[in-house]
Amino acid sequence: MSEVLRNRVYIVTGGSRGFGLAIAKQLVAQGANVGLISRNQAGLDQVVAELGTDQAVGMACDVGSSEQVCAIFEEIRRHFGQLDGLINNAGLAAPNRVENLVEAEVISQVHTNFLGTVFCSQAAIPWLRGTDNPRIVNISSASAWHYDEISHLSIYASTKAAVERFTRDLRLELQHDCIGVTCIRPGGAITDFSVGWDPDAFAAALEGWKDMGTYMDMGMVPEDVAEAVCYCLTQRPGVAVDLLEVRPSVLTPKDGF
Ligand SMILES: NC(=O)c1ccc[n+]([C@@H]2O[C@H](COP(=O)([O-])OP(=O)(O)OC[C@H]3O[C@@H](n4cnc5c(N)ncnc54)[C@H](OP(=O)(O)O)[C@@H]3O)[C@@H](O)[C@H]2O)c1
Repeated sequence: MSEVLRNRVYIVTGGSRGFGLAIAKQLVAQGANVGLISRNQAGLDQVVAELGTDQAVGMACDVGSSEQVCAIFEEIRRHFGQLDGLINNAGLAAPNRVENLVEAEVISQVHTNFLGTVFCSQAAIPWLRGTDNPRIVNISSASAWHYDEISHLSIYASTKAAVERFTRDLRLELQHDCIGVTCIRPGGAITDFSVGWDPDAFAAALEGWKDMGTYMDMGMVPEDVAEAVCYCLTQRPGVAVDLLEVRPSVLTPKDGF
């Protein structure tokens, strides 16, 4: 067990399932406390019951609302009495051809993926300033730069490219406060990410994607991303991983997907 994380407090957005849940589990296993955020309180309650109420608290909040984020961050900080870091992980996608995207699909992706990262960073910075190893870790996606992800992700990939560009400036600004800022760019892992996608739009996206080669970038599991997050959080004070791209090193055939 790493002593570096013991008694630290991290907010993990999107902590109710998938990557966020795996990150929360690894942090708790290493003695850290976690404040988990997602829009669904019932899902968070289940996770907190599993992780233990001593080390975990879950509070419903839409990261795309600055007002909600400010209120919830204050509550989590008050609950644990400190904040050592933020993992901006909440994200969603709505694959569709550009011409078919409806306004709500565009806005929800921009709000959650990009503005959520901005609003949560804004809320965390004042609490992080002055602590002894403060960190912000932003979760991007390989689809921001690589074309072997599924097709029709124009808006999703653009929001993640925006997260990466935002992270670069955030890093420069927060060097003055010794706050380490990291972007992790994961490849694909099976989670509930595609639950709720429009089935016709998803089928069309898979069609286009299958024309782009035989293999896919889906060979990871959420725990791989959690390992990467813990690696970044446990750098010594004064050192930060700027950008970490983690992708599968095995070929997974698209047949049968
Ligand atoms: N899975 C992949 O292959 C993959 C690859 C690269 C990058 N990523 C990125 O990794 C992150 C996690 O993905 P995942 O696969 O773990 O997805 P997931 O299983 O769908 O989990 C997403 C989490 O985000 C929360 N969430 C969504 N919108 C939110 C909002 N507006 N406010 C607060 N919470 C919100 C969800 O809870 P509620 O729905 O209850 O709010 C859930 O806890 C995302 O940023 C995703 O873009 C995923």
